[in-house]
Amino acid sequence: MANTDLMEKIISLCKRRGFVFPGSEIYGGLANSWDYAPLGHLLKQNIKKAWWKFFVQERGDMVPMDTAIIMNPKVWEASGHLQNFSDQLVECKKCHQRFREDLLEEKKCPECDGGLTEPKSFNLMFKTFLGTTDDNSTTAYLRPETAGGMFVNFKNVLNVTRRRLPFGIAQIGKCFRNEITPGNFIFRTREFEIGEFEYFINPKDWEQVFEMWLGEIKRWWKDIMQINMENLVWHEIPDGERAHYSKRTVDIEYKYPFGVKELHGIAYRTDFDMKRHQEVSGQDLTYVDPETGEKYLPHVVEPTFGIDRMLLVSLLEAYNEEDVPAGKEGETEIRVVMKFPKNLAPIQVAVLPLSKKEELSKVAKPLADELRKNFSVEYDETQSIGKRYRRQDEIGTPYCVTVDFDSLEDKKVTVRDRDTMKQERIAIDDLNDYLKNKFSV
Ligand code: GAP
Repeated sequence: MANTDLMEKIISLCKRRGFVFPGSEIYGGLANSWDYAPLGHLLKQNIKKAWWKFFVQERGDMVPMDTAIIMNPKVWEASGHLQNFSDQLVECKKCHQRFREDLLEEKKCPECDGGLTEPKSFNLMFKTFLGTTDDNSTTAYLRPETAGGMFVNFKNVLNVTRRRLPFGIAQIGKCFRNEITPGNFIFRTREFEIGEFEYFINPKDWEQVFEMWLGEIKRWWKDIMQINMENLVWHEIPDGERAHYSKRTVDIEYKYPFGVKELHGIAYRTDFDMKRHQEVSGQDLTYVDPETGEKYLPHVVEPTFGIDRMLLVSLLEAYNEEDVPAGKEGETEIRVVMKFPKNLAPIQVAVLPLSKKEELSKVAKPLADELRKNFSVEYDETQSIGKRYRRQDEIGTPYCVTVDFDSLEDKKVTVRDRDTMKQERIAIDDLNDYLKNKFSV
């Protein structure tokens, strides 16, 4: 399959089956804005839950937060975002469109071949105004990353949790950047979600902590997201190309159909942020080691993950087309199947009575209600069973449970496995435990 085809297929499947809709569609849309539809919302929730469990809940050294999107503008002065968070833009002298200089292949306008101006800086911060007047005295910004909220709360967290270093503060939340060149579906948008954590350390430990997190990140992609690790590129950012404050940065890149590009990253940010917040706020942010009495500004290792990019990768990795036997002897057809890791699948179990007849729904509906207590369940009694299986394959449902006329006699149902398409007869009384077992690995 050509790579561009794959993106088109994913975007079309997302619309058709309800993963992602174009934003504000009934008004003609809004370029590069997307809405997570019912299944996309569930998938995103599952990715966030899995991320949280893996990087926060299962560890003893992380504490959660949920900080404000609009913060005191001094935060962004301290972090350098107001001065430096910008792209270099050139403008076409003929059609006046603007482009990111670093993404242009030639010194001519890609739209109309016109000549280009010298590059100018364009700040990516989203401005807004507090209160009722829109003058500069009320200017505020939507956060471009969640990190700021965690840095400024370091001392508060330390006081209430009585933690010792090393420990991390983690959060997931929406961020906003006035991107010049959004695009590639949900890859680059102006509104997106980040999951990230600031891991506060003694500077002497940074190399070992960095390696530890690299190892955990690998485990996340291999064991939890279950992606083909050959599709990842571990890009060690060389000296001279890193942010001035970073001593080591690794961009984790992915081989997207539109090229090898960033998926997420990890950076050793030294004590840059804590130093700047200490300077600008005038507050003492130093840490005193209770055992050794050593006093220092904490240094930070920061792993950061774009939630929407993780979701895009999970869609790309899950997409499969398989030749399967068709209805007629010797003929085959293509089945599209989204092979999400079972625990990430938006719908875990589909309950499908063989027909709409009341005697079957009388059994199937209460069964679905019972399963809903433990699983995300869809009940579907329309169309032929073959078509319903195909639909569940396309949305990645790991198990379909079919209630047929034999079920009325033997109190058993047929469970079909999404990946193998094998079917098993299971007693209704055992079904809950059978499925729980399947999802526990
Ligand atoms: N605190 C560090 C930080 O914000 P970043 O590389 O600028 O680092 C973190 O952003 C992650 O957020 C990226 O690795 C990417 O996954 C995601 N991301 C950044 N800009 C994005 C955008 N415009 N649309 C979607 N995701 C984006």
